[in-house]
Amino acid sequence: MTNPDLTRWDSRFDTATYVFGEAPNIFLRAHAQGLPPGSALCVADGEGRNGVWLARQGWDVLSLDFSAVAQRKAADLAARHGVALRLEQADVHDWPYPPAAFDLVADVFSQFSRPGDRARKWNGMRRALKPGGHLIVVGYSPKQLDHRTGGPSEVANLYTPDLLRSAFAGLDILALDEVEAVLDEGPGHSGMSAVVTLLARASY
Ligand SMILES: C[S@@+](CC[C@H](N)C(=O)[O-])C[C@H]1O[C@@H](n2cnc3c(N)ncnc32)[C@H](O)[C@@H]1O
Repeated sequence: MTNPDLTRWDSRFDTATYVFGEAPNIFLRAHAQGLPPGSALCVADGEGRNGVWLARQGWDVLSLDFSAVAQRKAADLAARHGVALRLEQADVHDWPYPPAAFDLVADVFSQFSRPGDRARKWNGMRRALKPGGHLIVVGYSPKQLDHRTGGPSEVANLYTPDLLRSAFAGLDILALDEVEAVLDEGPGHSGMSAVVTLLARASY
């Protein structure tokens, strides 16, 4: 059976342009910069800008997304930068997240998830962290509905600091910020934006 969400994403990515740009998200970059490279999972990594940047910093990256069209572009971006990027084509809500497998799990703008699906995804991500592993989450806040420069229109899919604090209770929160900044991430995310960013560590 065809998945209408997948069809929509595949057709959005079916262009030579990188819809979210080729450079990494600035918050992912800032949070990951100081971490010692190891194994990383990039959830809903799309055209691979974040996974490829992490691979260029020495990380062994598994780039997870359900769009084959996006993943072809991710493979091409990795090849152009001369780095390896492991690709897994799967639905992030149903993927069997392996326990204690990654030193870093990064989730940048996966706000297609409705609250129930989001809980399954985030529980999987948390399970996949090695003890001492780091988690990075970046997403739009409800203030983004005033800017309309990217992201979903469903308020339930947007993040607040309290939502992230409660979803990831039990991890050490190293940074949790709500910021307004100009994003320049291809045609998909462009202009003044309201974003919540989290850096946390699994101390267990
Ligand atoms: C807004 S884009 C962000 C891509 C990437 N994280 C970035 O920051 O450039 C959302 C991504 O989620 C993927 N996606 C949407 N629903 C998905 C699902 N249920 N399972 C896996 N990937 C999904 C899309 O294919 C797309 O690549």
